[in-house]
Amino acid sequence: MATTSREPRDSDVYDEAVRGTCDDASLCKRYAVSIGYWDDPYLEYFVRLPKERKAPEISRGYYARVRGVNQLMTAFLKKTECNCQIINLGAGLDTLFWKLKDENLLPKKYFEVDFPSIATRKIHTIKRSQPGLQPLCHHRCRPSRAAQTRGEPEEMQPGPPVRLPTLLIAECVLIYMTPEHSSCLLRWASSTFLASMFINYEQVNMADRFGQIMVENLQSRQCHLVGVEVCRSLETQKARFLTTGWETVNAMDMMKVYSCLPPADVKRMEALEFLDEKELLEQLMQHYCLCWATKDSPRLGLADIGL
Ligand SMILES: C[S@@+](CC[C@H](N)C(=O)[O-])C[C@H]1O[C@@H](n2cnc3c(N)ncnc32)[C@H](O)[C@@H]1O
Repeated sequence: MATTSREPRDSDVYDEAVRGTCDDASLCKRYAVSIGYWDDPYLEYFVRLPKERKAPEISRGYYARVRGVNQLMTAFLKKTECNCQIINLGAGLDTLFWKLKDENLLPKKYFEVDFPSIATRKIHTIKRSQPGLQPLCHHRCRPSRAAQTRGEPEEMQPGPPVRLPTLLIAECVLIYMTPEHSSCLLRWASSTFLASMFINYEQVNMADRFGQIMVENLQSRQCHLVGVEVCRSLETQKARFLTTGWETVNAMDMMKVYSCLPPADVKRMEALEFLDEKELLEQLMQHYCLCWATKDSPRLGLADIGL
C-alpha cells in the first residue's frame, strides 16, 4: 500500500466520517442482538459488544429496519427462486451473506461494495476468524473508486451478469452521496439489469425541526449529509427512482413499516425492554423510510413485492 505525506483534505475527513458510520451501525446492531431483538450469530466476529447500553428506541428502530429489509429481500429471493444476484451497496460489516446461507436462501451471486479500507478490514476479519465465518465460497476485493471520487458508483468490470435478476440494497448509504451521484447510480442500475429491484433504507422528512437536529448532530462529527435534499419527503424519495428509469416505486416511513411486521414477533420484541419514550420512538421512525423500486422487462412479477 502506498503511503503519502500530504496534508489531509476536507474530503478525506468527510470520507473518514462516512466510513465511521459503518461502526456506528454495527455497534447498534450488535447491542440489539445481545438483548434478543433478532438473531445474528455472525456479528460478534466483526464488532465487540459496546460497553454502554443503547436506548430501547434505538434498538426498536434497528429491529424495524432489519425486519423490513429482510421481508422485502426474502420476497425477492422467493419470487426468483434464488436464481438471482444481490449487490449490497455500502455493505459495511453487514453479515447478510452468512444469514442467507443459514436460511438456504443464497443467491447465485453476492457482491458487496464499500470503501477499500472497509472491505479490506472485513476480509481480514473473515480470514482470521475461520472456521467461524465458513463457508465463504469466493471473495474478491476490488479497489473502489469511491475512495478517490467520493460518491461515484463503484466500477464493476467485468461486473455482475446483466441477465440475472438483481437485487440492489442500500441501507443508509445514498444520503452520503450527492443527489447527482445517487441518481447516476440508480440510472446505471435500472438501465443495466433486465430485471431488478432496489431497496433503499434511509432518512426522510429531514426538513422539519427533528430532521434538522439529526443533520446537525452528524455535522458536528464532520459527517455532512450531502444527499439530504432527496430525503425531504417520501415523494422526493420516490421521485429519484421515477426519474432514473424505474417502473414502480413504493415508499413508507418506518412507523408504517413497523405496523406491517408480523404481530407475534413484534409482541415478543416489545416485551424485551421497557420503553418510556414512545413519542421519541415515533419521531425517530417518522424520520427513516423504506423505499423499493422495480424494473422488470421479463415480467417476473417483481412489482407485486411489498410488505
Ligand atoms: C451507515 S453505514 C451502513 C452500513 C450497512 N449498510 C449497514 O446497514 O449496517 C454506511 C456505509 O456506506 C459506505 N459508503 C458510503 N458512501 C460510499 C461510497 N461512495 N462508496 C462506497 N461505500 C460508501 C460507508 O463506508 C459505510 O460502510
